[in-house]
Amino acid sequence: MSVLAIDAGTTGVTALVVSENGQISSKGYEEFAQHFPEPGWVEHNPEDIWQATLSACAAALRGAGDPPSCVGITNQRETAVVWDRRTLAAPRRAIVWQDRRTAGVCERLRSAGHEPRVSELTGLRLDPYFTATKMAWLAKHDPGVWAGVESGNVAVGTVDSYLIARLTAGGRHVTDPSNASRTLLYGLRSGGWEPELCELFGVPEAALPEIVPNHGPLGRTDPAAFLGLELPISGVAGDQQAALFGQTCFDVGDVKCTYGTGSFVLTNTGGEIVRSQSGLLTTVAWQAPSGERTFALEGSIFVTGAAVQWLRDGLGLIGTAPESEAVARTVPDSGGVVFVPALTGLGAPYWDPRARGLITGITRGTTRAHLVRATLEAIAYEVRDVVEVMTGGTVPVLKADGGASANDLLMQFQADQLGAPVERPVIQETTALGAAFLAGLGAGVWGSRAELRQTWQLERRFEPGERDDAAYERWRAAVRLVSPT
Ligand code: G3P
Repeated sequence: MSVLAIDAGTTGVTALVVSENGQISSKGYEEFAQHFPEPGWVEHNPEDIWQATLSACAAALRGAGDPPSCVGITNQRETAVVWDRRTLAAPRRAIVWQDRRTAGVCERLRSAGHEPRVSELTGLRLDPYFTATKMAWLAKHDPGVWAGVESGNVAVGTVDSYLIARLTAGGRHVTDPSNASRTLLYGLRSGGWEPELCELFGVPEAALPEIVPNHGPLGRTDPAAFLGLELPISGVAGDQQAALFGQTCFDVGDVKCTYGTGSFVLTNTGGEIVRSQSGLLTTVAWQAPSGERTFALEGSIFVTGAAVQWLRDGLGLIGTAPESEAVARTVPDSGGVVFVPALTGLGAPYWDPRARGLITGITRGTTRAHLVRATLEAIAYEVRDVVEVMTGGTVPVLKADGGASANDLLMQFQADQLGAPVERPVIQETTALGAAFLAGLGAGVWGSRAELRQTWQLERRFEPGERDDAAYERWRAAVRLVSPT
């Protein structure tokens, strides 16, 4: 028996076929276009995401043996998608989680005194990151589309809901609590859409998807829509919660960090809704079919891997992202250069959507290697900022995954900066693995979390060495320049 996992990320879709012993038997990947129509705006064409999903799945299935028993889905979260309920065509591009166009919407709601109530209900904050601010923007700036939403012809949702609609040929309009809890419309306590918030953001509740548990029967793929296959869809979760699951962080206090476009540090808080006073979000990790929910605290850092991409594409300093390690190793340190990669504002723990990036400490002796090294160091400092407020200083161990976790220099520097070990699993595509685990649990491929835990294998543990606190203080000083409050 095997499971097909679809990971619809921000820049591309990965499909994995995962065998019963938790190993990857085959893989497909397809990138899709990013659109930046104005500074600070980021959009995706939903049709591109769907076509990339079909190609990635077709490639993964070609490399696999027997057809999989079920499908699991995970996705970039918060991105607002609209589509016609009948034709499934999207009348406009999706507004991506990174998009900052709703900073003004957030400021207006904050000035009107709404933030405390919104935070109390959702565990989130008023930031352009979250879906409902994007929907409020659509209501005002795209009245044609919004009339469809109001009349019930056009559905709204996140990427998970859109993909499930496509996979089931419009049969299902559903989401799960991990994705719903990122919209600013879901009540952490009530476990459902909050009418008060739908009213505040002007979103008709009837247009939103039904919220279903993270594993169990969610729908079936329509063979005419999905590669001739009729398979149960039995698992779904937002990508960061899926990675927490894929890292088997099932116990309270377990912490993982996924190093992707951004980096997202999550800790399992069990059945307790823990509130943060220091810039962390409270979110749903997953919900079992019994209704039992597990919560998490999250530190969302928007730009980490994307800063390395900027070195490659924006500055042309490196040819490929993995090359950053070799280039950074040619110098012993960053030579006093500090880079604050606030390229799409600052997320946790600072939350400043208007912040811009900054490079300090440049001299005549500064080379590209110093800047590349400063970029890798910045990733580790950003993660240290979040882990310190999350754990009050020390974390027993950080489980790392995602693309940049393959960078040994970064992982060692991370362990040094945290003063704690960093563990990297054999399978670093933990997001997709988490979706496979959820779907496999939902369809009976695996019987329990204990069974899943047994499949987790350590690849390398980075023990902390000497910690350069003076360098970290330089980082904090540079962040204060970027975001003085
Ligand atoms: O909250 C945004 C997050 O879900 C995006 O993750 O891996 O697509 O960059 P990723």
